[in-house]
Amino acid sequence: MNKDLEQNIKAIISSFPAVGDILNEYKIGCTSCAAGTCRLKDIVEIHNLPAEEEEKLMGRIALAISPDGGLKVPKSGRKPAAAPGTLKYSPPLRRLVEEHLLIKRLLALLPRLAADLGSEEGAGLALSGLDFIRNYADKYHHAKEEEILFKYFDPDLEVIKTMLKDHAAGRGHVKGAAEALAAKDAAAAAAHLLAYRDLLSEHIKKEDEILYPWMDRNLSLNQVGELFGKFAEADSKFDPAAIARQEAFAADLEEKLADEAAAQA
Ligand SMILES: [Fe+2]
Ligand SMILES: [Fe+2]
Repeated sequence: MNKDLEQNIKAIISSFPAVGDILNEYKIGCTSCAAGTCRLKDIVEIHNLPAEEEEKLMGRIALAISPDGGLKVPKSGRKPAAAPGTLKYSPPLRRLVEEHLLIKRLLALLPRLAADLGSEEGAGLALSGLDFIRNYADKYHHAKEEEILFKYFDPDLEVIKTMLKDHAAGRGHVKGAAEALAAKDAAAAAAHLLAYRDLLSEHIKKEDEILYPWMDRNLSLNQVGELFGKFAEADSKFDPAAIARQEAFAADLEEKLADEAAAQA
């Protein structure tokens, strides 16, 4: 089975479609992933299933590849996975998860913003939303991931390439939304805002639940300390008032939209 572990997952699934069905059962969405060039070995490692589940999964994959039972499943030597809902992060990665919380608050408001782009006020709010995304989500948060955190890992890893592609696609939607707003094309702007919401919600979920816990398992204590220092240095280059303004923008918008919803009820 060691040879199969080194193969990319799309090649395995195309030769043995049942492997894709088995992975789907474990909520490992390789069949729908656009990349699909991850090695089976990395997928199993990154998803960090409890040892007995991993053994069951690998046993089923081995049987799907070789129904005569000729493949041997190697024992997992990894530390046990955290129970669901009890994910613990190192201090620097916890910081990124906390930044995700604010980004998710803005994402939750995007459908309401997208529904009212015809009015001048609505278009103005959407422009402020794009400003939040550019400055907080991208220049502040994604820059720390791209310029610091991801540098600790092999840039050829498919999971890193996928995260970078998501960031680039997000920037494309922000640019598209801004151009559509300038052209007073409310429908196109709404489509970009909603696509951005879908893309980034899924991206953050992958980082919180899969990528960051995997990174934490692979960083040494020294690297965690170094990362903490580098994040603090990156943060010090940002004007705290500008960050506070973005936080206040999200809070004010939540309040305004909640008041409007209450008035309509
Ligand atoms: Fe990211
Ligand atoms: Fe992130």
